[in-house]
Amino acid sequence: MLNTLTFIAFLLLALPGHSCPHVEHSRSFPSYNDALEIARSNNERRVTRQVSAPAKTAITNVRVFDGEKLLPLSTVFIEGGVIVPYASEATVVDGNGGVLLSGLIDAHSHPVSVEHLENFASYGVTTAMVMGCYPYDICHSLQNHPGLTDIRFAGQGAVAPNSTHALLGAGVPLNETITSPSQAPDFIARQLEAGATFIKMIAEDVGSPTLSQETMNALVVAAHAKGVRVACHAADYSAVDRALTAQTDQSHHVPNDFPLNSSLISRFVAQNTISVPTLSIFLQFDIGGRPDGAHGFDVATASAGALNAAKVPILAGTDANNVPGPFSLAFGSSLHTELELLVQAGLSTVEALRSATVLAAQHNLLFDRGVVASGMRADLLLISGDPIANISATRDIQRVWIGGVEYTTVSGN
Ligand SMILES: *[C@@H]1O[C@H](CO)[C@@H](O)[C@H](O)[C@H]1NC(C)=O
Ligand SMILES: *[C@@H]1O[C@H](CO)[C@@H](O)[C@H](O)[C@H]1NC(C)=O
Ligand SMILES: *[C@@H]1O[C@H](CO)[C@@H](O)[C@H](O)[C@H]1NC(C)=O
Ligand SMILES: *[C@@H]1O[C@H](CO)[C@@H](O)[C@H](O)[C@H]1NC(C)=O
Repeated sequence: MLNTLTFIAFLLLALPGHSCPHVEHSRSFPSYNDALEIARSNNERRVTRQVSAPAKTAITNVRVFDGEKLLPLSTVFIEGGVIVPYASEATVVDGNGGVLLSGLIDAHSHPVSVEHLENFASYGVTTAMVMGCYPYDICHSLQNHPGLTDIRFAGQGAVAPNSTHALLGAGVPLNETITSPSQAPDFIARQLEAGATFIKMIAEDVGSPTLSQETMNALVVAAHAKGVRVACHAADYSAVDRALTAQTDQSHHVPNDFPLNSSLISRFVAQNTISVPTLSIFLQFDIGGRPDGAHGFDVATASAGALNAAKVPILAGTDANNVPGPFSLAFGSSLHTELELLVQAGLSTVEALRSATVLAAQHNLLFDRGVVASGMRADLLLISGDPIANISATRDIQRVWIGGVEYTTVSGN
């Protein structure tokens, strides 16, 4: 049962020409009660899992990636879960000349179980932005697992009645969907009360009922009034247009129909909207074979390259999910794929590394992480190769620390 749930803003289901999407995939989603059962099991894991306290650690002989370049060999100290200038009597870990990166951040994911957090952790993904949860219990049950990946969640995505995303899975109850701009402040307040730290809004593709432009605008205004940012699902050209008009902070996915051109890209630049292209899920769709036979990956890659050329900040996000079937995408390893795909799209290796570390932290207002520096959370990834020379070196993982606790495969479940 652990593997059968997700509340995914599932890109495939919003593709043009895919006329009856929710029928196709509805069997993949659990009932509300199954979801509660998964949450219960996650909470139980929190209790039974044995974690050592963050140790005083000295990681010697490492080249730190400082967000721009590799520094000469040095020692990094950890104490109390954070990076410190020096710690006496620390346990020494020889880095053997490897590279120390800030823990990776997946800016778009759909974990539902502790097992998914373990997958993330084992691949050095130490923070995951979770794009939605319904019921909220699922997200709550993934929080506060010391030594495992730290999640931040959006709560429930803002959707219109009868829209593609409202009908996913058990469906969003009608009274939780949004039909007018006046409902925006209450909707935002409900998500924040449930523990959300950012807002997810869905600009549906052509063919689905969707939020009106006025409602999208009002959601962004209401979110900003509360000091939180908005991530907008926008996976075709017109959806990106509406997301930009609404002044969303983050546009997630890129169009699958036309590559972004100067008319939209200049608007990203003018209003400081950033992009989370999620190329790895587009690749997965092409590999899995979409029912309509369309191929979105090349189009998506072109957009990512054009956005980067225009200096639009790009974050590495995957859409990792466990919906059974050909579009399921592994947690953790997919972020390394995303880095490779971003480099193929035209990012430099340094830009790709920044997209999963310092930029991902800044743009998600996570100011305690994203760089290897004193006072920051000790979320660290030790690899043996040089990721600036070859981005695939991020896969060569030696050790991972999360909040100062070294990740090791855990017993006690
Ligand atoms: C949603 O769909 C149902 C059934 O198809 C229909 O009765 C209802 O009027 C629709 N509601 C909206 C707001 O479109
Ligand atoms: C929607 O209805 C359910 C079930 O009656 C209730 O628990 C929930 O609070 C309602 N949501 C809103 C926003 O009123
Ligand atoms: C950008 O692409 C869209 C969709 O193909 C098109 O309607 C628009 O005219 C294009 N704009 C420019 C400046 O090329
Ligand atoms: C990067 O490393 C991978 C894995 O070792 C290798 O397959 C690939 O050819 C390398 N790429 C370059 C550009 O050297």
